[in-house]
Amino acid sequence: MTADGIVLVTGGCRGIGAATATLLADQGRRVVISDIAPEPLAGTQTILWPAPFDVASESAVVSGIADIEAAHGPITGLVNAAGVFGKMHPVEQVRMDQWDRELNIDLRGTFLVARSVGVRMAQRRHGAIVNVASIAGMTSGPIHAYTAAKAGVIQITQTLAAEWGRVGVRVNAVSPGFTRTVALEAGIASGALNKDLLAHPTAMNRLVEPVEVAQAIAWLLSPMSSGVTGINLPVDAGFIAGTTWAAYGGLPEAPEA
Ligand SMILES: NC(=O)c1ccc[n+]([C@@H]2O[C@H](COP(=O)([O-])OP(=O)(O)OC[C@H]3O[C@@H](n4cnc5c(N)ncnc54)[C@H](O)[C@@H]3O)[C@@H](O)[C@H]2O)c1
Repeated sequence: MTADGIVLVTGGCRGIGAATATLLADQGRRVVISDIAPEPLAGTQTILWPAPFDVASESAVVSGIADIEAAHGPITGLVNAAGVFGKMHPVEQVRMDQWDRELNIDLRGTFLVARSVGVRMAQRRHGAIVNVASIAGMTSGPIHAYTAAKAGVIQITQTLAAEWGRVGVRVNAVSPGFTRTVALEAGIASGALNKDLLAHPTAMNRLVEPVEVAQAIAWLLSPMSSGVTGINLPVDAGFIAGTTWAAYGGLPEAPEA
């Protein structure tokens, strides 16, 4: 990514998208944020796109991307951060309307925006895309639709990287672990999630901060990662590394400092 053009961050008004938009703007990028629930990001130079579109709607995405480029110039960086969390259910209770919602927004939406922007980048032979997947796409849990959607995001990331590699467009994913966004805090506050149970299996015994995911995304968008495409980078405080240790009696606790 060069300093020309704009970065589009979908889902940029909250959570990981907001942290990423803020960091990129602080780094001097022109950042346009688009979100189905639009709200300006206080204290940043980000540009809020005033005509929000649902990432799951093909026609809305195609016209939204064309309108953003007509208004603000070529998109040279794309962050697909729009998404919804998975509802936890035993398999018999998975409602297929909920399944469709999670697959539509998290997988179909990521694909639609990546395709609409990526074909334009490919024509210009320049650009970088980062999709926000999840450790849920690499592990299992009682969030049946969400794990499938996020595994799909990891897969389409590789496929699109191969599709556009020869025309100078890089496509990568990050897989956040449990990240301390307002959405996750709400899950903890409601009692649906337990903070200690989320943190304890990680090597680092903590949640991930939104800015830590943002830093990985900024790296994947930047020329510092110019040789990297098609990867899925976990930003998980060591969740994947640590979680299997329960089978061996658990992770070693740090001695008193
Ligand atoms: N927070 C975590 O622990 C965590 C962990 C792994 C992956 N993720 C993923 O990171 C991404 C961001 O999550 P977050 O925690 O920041 O959540 P969040 O709810 O704070 O932010 C998501 C944003 O996406 C927007 N959005 C939702 N549906 C949309 C749609 N159809 N069209 C356009 N915008 C839409 C929302 O309005 C919201 O602003 C999601 O894909 C999520 O699955 C989050």
